Amino acid sequence: MALIAAVDLGSSKVVALIAEVDAYGELNVIGFGRVNQDRAIERGMITKLESAANAIQSALREAQEMAGVKTTSVVIGISGPSLKSQNEREIVHISTPPSRITQENIDRIIERVLSRSREDGYEVISAIPRRYTLDDQEVAYDPIGLVASKMQSEVHVIKFASNPVRNIENVLSGLGFEVRERFASPIASAEAVLSQEEKEEGVLLIDLGAGLTSYCVYAEGSPLLTGSISIGGINITKDVGHFMKVSVEQAERIKVEQGCALTEMVSEDEEITIVPRGETSPIRLARKKLVEVIQIRLEEIAEAVRQELNKNKIDLEALHAGIVITGGSAKIEGMKVFTERFFQSAARIGLPVGVIGLRDKLQDPSYSVVVGLLKLAYHKRFRSVVSQQQDGKNQFHDKLSRAFDKLKSILREII
Ligand SMILES: Nc1ncnc2c1ncn2[C@@H]1O[C@H](COP(=O)(O)OP(=O)(O)OP(=O)(O)O)[C@@H](O)[C@H]1O
Ligand SMILES: [Mg+2]
Repeated sequence: MALIAAVDLGSSKVVALIAEVDAYGELNVIGFGRVNQDRAIERGMITKLESAANAIQSALREAQEMAGVKTTSVVIGISGPSLKSQNEREIVHISTPPSRITQENIDRIIERVLSRSREDGYEVISAIPRRYTLDDQEVAYDPIGLVASKMQSEVHVIKFASNPVRNIENVLSGLGFEVRERFASPIASAEAVLSQEEKEEGVLLIDLGAGLTSYCVYAEGSPLLTGSISIGGINITKDVGHFMKVSVEQAERIKVEQGCALTEMVSEDEEITIVPRGETSPIRLARKKLVEVIQIRLEEIAEAVRQELNKNKIDLEALHAGIVITGGSAKIEGMKVFTERFFQSAARIGLPVGVIGLRDKLQDPSYSVVVGLLKLAYHKRFRSVVSQQQDGKNQFHDKLSRAFDKLKSILREII
């Protein structure tokens, strides 16, 4: 029975899932663990080693206990302010006269792109070939076996600061877990919530979390832009706290229970009751005031995403499938309408799909990353460079040990 464990290190919670691949080839989630954490992991980075390790261990232990299995390797999501991407073009000569394209030709392209994308302090999380052009004319998405004399490819390279990744991996290895694969978190969210059709038509995915707003753009079926901005639901909560002079816990509750993304969705006579600092009795306040505070921050976040698209010359109008919002803050009432108005584009809220088991629990946009990690690992899509290299080494070891076995049996026969 194949098992996959995934961990999402969010700014508000650590969540772990364990899935088995059932007899029908479906991903069946059998273990779930969640630990709400406060400031041990902020914006994708570990800020308090011991507390972070405790949260990760508890989430994984909870998931293992529910599943009744032990796992020693995990798939993790990476996100944070240093997440960035670039698209690189590379050409390889296949042969004259033309011959069939092999995996080695593709590996050559990736190797060259990797050596060209090297940057101090950063490491490549994924290198994803977007499409191939054969002999300057034909476009191919899976070129292995096709005949050509030269092949050009555009590769989407996703990078992240090396030290924060190392810190996460060190914590996990200290807990006895090997990091089997790493994926950029917004790519995992995309895997969980987007349909293939949306990816083909062009879509902007926004994962509106607690500390981060991570995003990726898909066009022609593959990622074109990946990144993350350091603002999220925590900022909205803090604004509500400041404005209403209430504690962060109270502000969080008010936001979740009474919040809304658009003032025009709230009528003038709606009221909320709060007890500000220094007051002993509750006071009434127009709900519209609360929603104004939320909307202003949401507009700032949306504007920051728009700037990123502009900077990268991506035209939203060309993304025919519009925008999909996921992450915990997608649950703010009115987020769909807010997004449609702000970006002048179609929008929907994305919930994770494509796994069975614990469906009710996982029908929540906060779990898009962790569900997507399971799916990416299972379908072996967009494999991280490290795991591909390890696979290469493993294949080498496999070949070597097969050669030894053969040698041993020959020797036995001779003896
Ligand atoms: N019903 C709701 N209304 C408004 N906000 C909500 C609601 N439910 C959750 N949130 C917000 O969602 C955020 C948590 O989302 P999520 O779990 O996606 O974040 P995370 O993955 O922990 O953090 P990040 O990805 O930013 O590091 C919190 O800021 C929380 O206040
Ligand atoms: Mg998150």
